[in-house]
Amino acid sequence: MAEDVIIEYRDVSKRFGEHVVLDGVNLTVRRGETLTIVGRSGTGKSVMLKTLTGLVPVDAGRIFVDGDEVTAMEEDDMREVRRKIGMLFQNAALFDSMTIFENVAYPLAEHTDYSEAKRLEIAKETLEMVDLQGIEDQFPGELSGGMKKRVGLARAIALRPPIVLYDEPTTGLDPITSNVINRLIRRLQRKLEITSIVVTHDLESAFMITDRIAMLHEGKIISVQTTEEFRRAQDERIHEFATGGLSEEELRSVGRVL
Ligand SMILES: Nc1ncnc2c1ncn2[C@@H]1O[C@H](COP(=O)(O)OP(=O)(O)OP(=O)(O)O)[C@@H](O)[C@H]1O
Ligand SMILES: [Mg+2]
Repeated sequence: MAEDVIIEYRDVSKRFGEHVVLDGVNLTVRRGETLTIVGRSGTGKSVMLKTLTGLVPVDAGRIFVDGDEVTAMEEDDMREVRRKIGMLFQNAALFDSMTIFENVAYPLAEHTDYSEAKRLEIAKETLEMVDLQGIEDQFPGELSGGMKKRVGLARAIALRPPIVLYDEPTTGLDPITSNVINRLIRRLQRKLEITSIVVTHDLESAFMITDRIAMLHEGKIISVQTTEEFRRAQDERIHEFATGGLSEEELRSVGRVL
């Protein structure tokens, strides 16, 4: 594994019953970069993220995180890997019966022996990093979608992990709130020097926060390109995804040019 590579998928395959989802995925992520994975619904983007922390076990192939092969690990060693990886789940996935403080501090309770006072201090500091203050005692049900995403983000970075995975961080949010989240992600990356993998359908967000874009198509990563290359890509499959299958005339009618 080259020194500047922090995550590597080698020929990774995963099926659920007869349904082959990943069919020989190869991908490397460089230390410090932000890489976006795009692809149509149901292609296995969320599954790809979940294989990194062993949440979804793979059938074949190898996955390396920071020099260690996670696909060869016992459960005990996976804890160390999970500590290194923060994850913002699709739909934020907060614990509804826990307060915002308990949600954000959850990884601290799982992975450290910090006192409650220390956990509260870190939770407050982390909530401030995502522009939320004074909501420690509220419950997820009391928050808007955008606020929940930000709480999910705070939980993902509570341990200050070197790697953060964002699964659809802006889906379902209005354009202004989306850009607030995108700026936040950018800011956190710079401040904490995080390596990120972002899964999104939202190409505008991808262009805003990404160094490289990987496209997952029919079980394989069919291309990894810079955002500039992606915009100009001639590949039929990328072009179709980028235009949403619209013709040139339709693109013009909605005021979009690639
Ligand atoms: N635990 C599971 N058991 C059975 N099938 C699963 C499981 N998890 C995922 N799948 C299937 O794997 C495929 C890929 O799912 P995944 O959630 O990774 O798609 P996705 O690319 O993230 O889609 P979306 O963009 O809609 O979020 C889907 O067909 C899904 O039904
Ligand atoms: Mg998904």
